[in-house]
Amino acid sequence: MKLLIIGSGGREHAIAKKCLADPQVSHVFCAPGNPGMEKDGIDLIAITESNHPALIDFATTQQIDWTFVGPEVPLLNGIVDDFQAAGLQIFGPNKQAAMIEGSKAFAKEIMLANQIPTAAYRSFTNSLEAKAYIEDKGVPIVIKADGLAAGKGVVVALTIEEAFGAVESMLEQNVFGESGAKVVVEEYLAGEEFSLLAFVNREKVYPMVIAQDHKRAYDHDLGPNTGGMGAYSPVPQISQQVVDQSIREVLQPAAQGMIDHGTPFVGILYAGLIATKEGPKVIEFNARFGDPETQVVLNRLESSFPAIITALLANQEPEIIWNDQASIGVVIAAEGYPGAYQKGMVVPTDAPDTAQFYYAGVAKNAENASLVASGGRVMLVEVTASDLATAQTEVYQAIDSLSLNEMFYRSDIGDKALSLARKSSKTL
Ligand code: AMP
Ligand code: GLY
Repeated sequence: MKLLIIGSGGREHAIAKKCLADPQVSHVFCAPGNPGMEKDGIDLIAITESNHPALIDFATTQQIDWTFVGPEVPLLNGIVDDFQAAGLQIFGPNKQAAMIEGSKAFAKEIMLANQIPTAAYRSFTNSLEAKAYIEDKGVPIVIKADGLAAGKGVVVALTIEEAFGAVESMLEQNVFGESGAKVVVEEYLAGEEFSLLAFVNREKVYPMVIAQDHKRAYDHDLGPNTGGMGAYSPVPQISQQVVDQSIREVLQPAAQGMIDHGTPFVGILYAGLIATKEGPKVIEFNARFGDPETQVVLNRLESSFPAIITALLANQEPEIIWNDQASIGVVIAAEGYPGAYQKGMVVPTDAPDTAQFYYAGVAKNAENASLVASGGRVMLVEVTASDLATAQTEVYQAIDSLSLNEMFYRSDIGDKALSLARKSSKTL
C-alpha cells in the first residue's frame, strides 16, 4: 500500500511512522511533512496542506491507496470533499462535519440537541452583553474564541478584569480575527481533564485508550495555554467507569447527533473531557487526532493502524487491540512559545535507545543541512515502558542526555497520575 498523510507536525510523524510499521505498506508520503521525519523513512512531498489540486494530482499519479488528514485546517477547508469529488479515498470528516471543531457554537448546538453533558455557556458577538453575562455569573469563568485559534483562544479567567480583557481582545481588538468575532462564555468545570478519541464511521464508534494532555506552558499547570506540552496514557486516575460513561453519554450520542443533523461524521472524533463530580463533561470536540496525544496513544495500539483505516473506508469492522503498556511524551518547545519564540537552534537527532523522537517545528539549515528549530513546538521525546513510573523516569533521563539550547520543556508530565499512585499506595 502507498499512503499519503497531510500535515507537518509530531502528530503526523507518529501517524506516518505507525503506518510504515505495517509490512503491507511500502511507502508513506507526508505533505508537506518536516525534515525530522526522513530518518524514519517517511517521504516528504513539498505541497502545502491548502493546495488541494496539487495534492489530488499527486495522489492520483502516485496511485495512493488512501490519504489521512492530520490537522483541522485542511478538514475545514474541505479537503475531504475535494478528494472524494475526485474519486479518491481519504479518511476524515468533510467540511460540514468538521464544524464540530470549527465552531464552538455549532458543537454546543449538537451537544444541547443530544443531551451531551457540557459546561453551561452562552455565545456573544457583542462585548457589552458578554460582560454583563460575566458579571452575572462571576469567576472563575472561561472565555473561548468561537473559531480555530491553534489551542490559544481559551482564557480561564480567575478575575473579572481578566475575563473582560479576554472579551475585549477577541470582540473589540480582534486578536484572533474572524475566529474571535464570536465568543463562547462558559462555566468553569473543576476536575481532572482527559482526552478520549475514537475512530468514527457514521454511527459506529471505536474508542481509543485515553490520554491526558498538559495545555499550560509551565510546570504545575502555570503559564499560558499552548497547543499541548506533553501527554501520557493510560490515565489511571480516570476510572474505566468514567470512560465507559463518556463513550455512552458523549461519543455515541455525538456520532448519532451528527447523522441526525445531516452532517454524519467519519474520521477521528476527539472529546476533551473533565471528570466533574457530576460525571464527565465536554469542554471541546476536535475533528482529528490530538497533538501530542497521538504520539502516546498510537504506541499503545497493538493492531495495524493502516488496516483499521482500510477497514473503515470499506465499511468493514476493524480489528482494534490496545496493549497494557504506558507511554509518556514530553514536548520540547522553543523559548518564548506560545508567544514569539527563538528559531534556528540545532535540534538533537540521535534518540537514546529507550526513546523515540517525533519532530514538529524543524527545518534543514541551508548551510550544513543540520536539523534546526523553526516552530514553537519543536519535537517530542517519547518512551513506552511497562508502567508510567518507569516511562517517566526514562523519558526524563533521555531528555537529560540531550543538548537543548534555548528550548524548554515541562518536567512534570505524568506527575498527576503518579502522585495519585503514591498517595494511594500510602493509604493501602
Ligand atoms: P480548549 O482549547 O477548549 O481545550 O481549552 C484549553 C484548556 O482550557 C483546556 O484544556 C482546559 O484546561 C481549559 N478549559 C477549557 N474549558 C474549560 C472549562 N469549561 N472549565 C475549566 N477549564 C476549561
Ligand atoms: N492536544 C490538544 C489538541 O490537539 O487539540
